[in-house]
Amino acid sequence: MIEVIPGNITHAAIMAEIHGAASPDPWPLSAYAESLKNPSTHSLLVLEEGTPRGFVLVQQAADEAEILMIAVNPSFQGKNYGKHLVVSIAEQLEQKGVKALFLEVAEDNAPARSLYAKCGFAQVGRRKGYYAHANARRQPVKVDALLMRLDIVETDR
Ligand SMILES: CC(C)(COP(=O)(O)OP(=O)(O)OC[C@H]1O[C@@H](n2cnc3c(N)ncnc32)[C@H](O)[C@@H]1OP(=O)(O)O)[C@@H](O)C(=O)NCCC(=O)NCCS
Repeated sequence: MIEVIPGNITHAAIMAEIHGAASPDPWPLSAYAESLKNPSTHSLLVLEEGTPRGFVLVQQAADEAEILMIAVNPSFQGKNYGKHLVVSIAEQLEQKGVKALFLEVAEDNAPARSLYAKCGFAQVGRRKGYYAHANARRQPVKVDALLMRLDIVETDR
């Protein structure tokens, strides 16, 4: 059974663990603990048979919100858990009066860009050289950040 549950401070460690498995540049546990204490952040976890597979963390400011992080355990990526999380958080934010959901994604992050495209996000800006990634030779490479927006009121669900 797949279910989506609200996240809270007790989920900081599992979020940090999933992020650590999914990304070469994860946030420390303390960053999750701090974020989850903040009353303007909201989060959801997707569980399969009770085991967390992924999560989304957003921050709300009036009628706008931003995805701070979304990550799915690498062994379970490509199974629509990411989409499930985005659709579910958009529904929850709609109830809280949010009209637009924003995020920033590295231009070279193909899986994340696929996810956001299929969820209806549109590119609304670009920050040149915003991210510094390491290439195969461990040399720093500048990558643009794409700013993306989803109009929640127009989401087709
Ligand atoms: C981004 C992420 C959350 C997506 O989670 P997911 O559960 O795999 O998401 P979904 O299964 O709903 O969709 C993923 C899409 O990416 C596609 N995809 C997967 N690998 C891909 C690749 N290498 N190139 C292009 N598309 C890819 C999948 O095919 C799927 O699209 P489709 O359904 O149209 O075929 C996951 O890849 C992740 O945790 N990445 C690491 C953390 C990260 O980068 N987060 C985003 C920060 S902005």
